[in-house]
Amino acid sequence: MPEPGLVAIECTVNDRPRRWLVPPGATLLEALREAQVRGPKLVCGTGDCCACGVILNGRSVNSCCTLAAKAAGATVLTVEGLAEAGRLHPIQTAFLETGAAQCGFCTPGFLIRAYAFLSEHEDPDEAAVRAALGGNICRCTGYVKPVQAVLEAARRMRAGASAESGRRSSTPVPPLFDGRAE
Ligand code: FES
Ligand code: FES
Repeated sequence: MPEPGLVAIECTVNDRPRRWLVPPGATLLEALREAQVRGPKLVCGTGDCCACGVILNGRSVNSCCTLAAKAAGATVLTVEGLAEAGRLHPIQTAFLETGAAQCGFCTPGFLIRAYAFLSEHEDPDEAAVRAALGGNICRCTGYVKPVQAVLEAARRMRAGASAESGRRSSTPVPPLFDGRAE
């Protein structure tokens, strides 16, 4: 039985089962932080910047204004879950190589949004990418390089799929993308 005033939530975060005891009004971002999942960033706290983006049951959401209770029985993917076996996802590699991550604070949200978008749009044009990233605020890049990175990631993912070489890159995970950056 959970302590009085707390609710128990069981879910899967980045392929790992989790059990949280949180106040009924806790946000998903607060629950993730409590569980030491620190990739999603708290910036506005009002749903206006997407720095806290995660994927909840296949859909990108702003975790700062999503109740943790919504994750009950759900699967959650955060930026920490994009890399596999120590290898970056092609979206991460593209951001790294194009210089689309500068201070990096907005980057987890951009990566998650790009992941959700490219899961449904294999060969987008620039206008579609710009529209998809329209809610993500960045103070450093001017948005040009993130758009270029997503287009490049889409190209690499298509090439990887057709070559059956897998979707992971050969780039090891650097600290910027492994969620340790606060
Ligand atoms: S911190 Fe969640 S949308 Fe800005
Ligand atoms: S890279 Fe600094 S806010 Fe986007």
